[in-house]
Amino acid sequence: MGTKGRSIVKDADKIVEKLNKAFADEWLAYYQYWVGAKVIEGPMKEAVIGELDQHAADELRHADMLALRIIQLGGVPILDPKQWHEASNCGYHGPADPNVRVVLDQNVKGEQCAIGVYTELMEFTRERDPITYNMALEILQDEVEHEEDLEALVQDFEILTAS
Ligand SMILES: [Fe+2]
Ligand SMILES: [Fe+2]
Repeated sequence: MGTKGRSIVKDADKIVEKLNKAFADEWLAYYQYWVGAKVIEGPMKEAVIGELDQHAADELRHADMLALRIIQLGGVPILDPKQWHEASNCGYHGPADPNVRVVLDQNVKGEQCAIGVYTELMEFTRERDPITYNMALEILQDEVEHEEDLEALVQDFEILTAS
């Protein structure tokens, strides 16, 4: 990023730190969806796989957006995957139990955590960095949609299995 572009940002180091934590979250979320789509078992499997794959692609795109912004701010995206767990806000919840309902619930929790993370990032950047604020809003819109998609699948699952 150019000199003027950087000059409009306050507390860039702190913002980079927050962006790197979100970056770790996105990679772990990507993998959680990706591997979940591979191993999942149970009713509505095909519909759920389609959704999980789509979310995985979105999380990877978010990781890309975050890495670009980190670099623009003069930072370095986490270089070693070993650091993802330590840096992450939301952690990783692998599909040890591949049951559709269990995997959906795990991912709903992940999205709810992500919504909290981007809401907080927006609060922090509101007066400090309009570009990151705008990016956080864009990502937040996706995470809200993800939660809604998953909760709709949980609802369908309940209707299907109630009878
Ligand atoms: Fe994401
Ligand atoms: Fe998401």
